[in-house]
Parts: sequence; C-alpha cells; structure tokens
Amino acid sequence: NQSLFFMRISLEEAASRLRSGEVVAIPTETVYGLAADATNDVALAKIFATKQRPADHPLIVHIPDVSHVKDWVTDFPEIAVKLAQAFWPGAFTLVLPAKHHVSKVVRGGESTIALRVPNHPIALALLKLSDLCVAAPSANLFTQLSPTTAAHVEAGLGEAIPVLDGGACQVGIESTIVSVDTNGEWQLLRPGMISEAEIAQVKGKPQLVKSSVVNEQLKPIQTPKVPGQHALHYSPRTPLTLFKARAALIAECEALLQAGKTCAALLIGTGELPNCQVTSLANQPAEVAEHLYNALHDLDALKVDRLLVELPPDTAPWAAVLDRLSRAGYSESA
Ligand code: TXA
Ligand code: MG
Repeated sequence: NQSLFFMRISLEEAASRLRSGEVVAIPTETVYGLAADATNDVALAKIFATKQRPADHPLIVHIPDVSHVKDWVTDFPEIAVKLAQAFWPGAFTLVLPAKHHVSKVVRGGESTIALRVPNHPIALALLKLSDLCVAAPSANLFTQLSPTTAAHVEAGLGEAIPVLDGGACQVGIESTIVSVDTNGEWQLLRPGMISEAEIAQVKGKPQLVKSSVVNEQLKPIQTPKVPGQHALHYSPRTPLTLFKARAALIAECEALLQAGKTCAALLIGTGELPNCQVTSLANQPAEVAEHLYNALHDLDALKVDRLLVELPPDTAPWAAVLDRLSRAGYSESA
C-alpha cells in the first residue's frame, strides 16, 4: 500500500507543525493549499522552495473571519466590506493595501495583500486551533495542475509533504480574486466560481485602475498584478489541445490515431464520441469546475501523446472554467 509512505496527518498535528514553522498541505473548498504561518518568513520561504515558485508571486493569506482583516490592511473600503459580507466564508479573495509590517515575502514585494476566509470546516478548524493566519498557494509545483484531493498533492509534491486530508474539494477551481484600491475602485484579477455578475450585484461595475494620479499627495496607483498569466499555468504534463467544436476534436483524434499516436479526450456534455479514451463531464459550470482538475489529473496519468479537450461555450457562467482551460492548453483549434 503506497499510501503508507505518505504523510497524512491529523488536525492537531497540522496545527502544531504550522506553529513550529513547517509547511502543511491543507484542504479548502477550492483547491488544496500549501500552508505556512503568514507571519513567519522562514516558513513562507519553504512554500516558495517547495513549489519552485518565483519570489515575486504573492500568496493568499487565509484568515478565520472578517475581524482579522484590520490586522493586515491599511484600508478596508466600504465596497470591500460589502464583498466580504456577501462572499465570506467562500471562494473569494480580496486584494487590499497592506500594512507596512506585513511580510514582504507573503506579498511578493507588492504593496497589497490578498486575504480569504475559506469555506471549509477543516480549514476553519485549523485556523482556530493553530491561532494562525496561514499563507497558502495551491499545493502544486509552479505552473502544474492544482490539486483537489490529498492524492493529487502527494503525486505532485511527493511524500515528504505532510497532508491534512479533507476529502475532495467541492468548488474545484481557485477562488475569484478582486482588488479594491484606496478609492474603493475594484478590479477582477482572476475569474472564479463567484462570478463578475454576482460581484457587480453587490457593488457597481468594475472600474479601470488608473496608471497614475494627478494628486501629489497620493502615490501613483500601480496596476495590480494579474495572476496566472504564464502561458502554461494550470497545465498537465501531456500536451493538450483545446477545441471549440466536437467535430474538430474527433477529426484530430482520427488524425492522431492514423499517425500511430495515442490520445484521450475530455468532453463537456453529450454528443458523438471520438475513438479514444473519454472522460465526459456534465454540461453545467459548477459540475465541470468541481471535477475539472481531477479529470485532467487522471487523463495526464494515462501518459498518452496528446489530450484533446472540448471547450464550453464562451458565455459568462463558463468564464472561470474557460480561463483555466485556456491556460492549460498549448493551442486552440476551431
Ligand atoms: O482558491 C484559492 O485561491 C487557492 C486556495 C488554496 O485558497 N489558492 C490559490 O493560491 O489559488 P495561488 O497562489 O495558486 O494563487 C494566488 C494568486 C496568485 O496568482 C497571485 O498572483 C495572486 O493570487 N495574488 C496574491 N496576492 C496578490 C496581490 N497582493 N496582488 C495581486 N495578486 C495577488
Ligand atoms: Mg496556483
């Protein structure tokens, strides 16, 4: 039994390891995170080293409830308060102006800090038991697929990483990230299952962040860093091609098989099937999000020459799934 070699740990042990400055993989409702004490630079450095993540990619700090926001930010504008009330605990991250004392390691040198109250009973219990706020990026190597099960974490990061197993993640893709500046203007930095429409319902339309301001009293407003811009962010190791039309996917499958290559397909909804191994997901955004990474992990493990992935329609409810798929794919075909 392979799992004997892995390090699944209890809630108590996870809390105690975090308190002594170690990293622990933890469940959240979105994806598993690689957690460390957000105030301990030595512990934070272990996150970057384990993930092989560049130091200028800031981390999200997970807090037990909204009362902790004031410990991290200089400004909690009214609109951000409303968004926090509407979406926390949940798959929603707020980027706000950071207090001076907040570790530069956790914010990757930015002047802002990303905060989230996760909606997962074990993650919340861990934050309370440890009495810590924990920085936690997704528990995968930089640019690789995010993990939605303990087994994904172990397959990606190896057996040396202790994992607190909380079952499969229910949301399945990373949180929506919104920045709010000192003027109360907001910007969507990363789409997620909490949609732009839901956010706009809470407070107005997104405002474009200005690159500079005339008032000398204010520092120029920096354009916030937009996460996941790398071409191969969220990608499996197997080359992957995206298809807007099922017929084109089937034709590509035929061409590959003719050329003596192997392939497997990820399909959304019903329809004609290609002549290769297929994973079909129900034609519902929340369903696809929940199972997307697990399906890609499984398809990747087949070690075929190419993965063929069907894209959902280019409509608002699919925005987050489309974002992740477009970053996972090497090319797109009609
Ligand atoms: O659902 C999630 O958000 C998961 C779970 C574990 O909470 N975490 C996650 O972390 O996706 P990570 O590191 O894989 O992605 C966090 C993103 C990064 O791409 C980073 O650029 C962005 O958040 N981010 C963090 N702090 C930021 C800041 N101050 N300004 C702009 N972007 C920031
Ligand atoms: Mg990530």
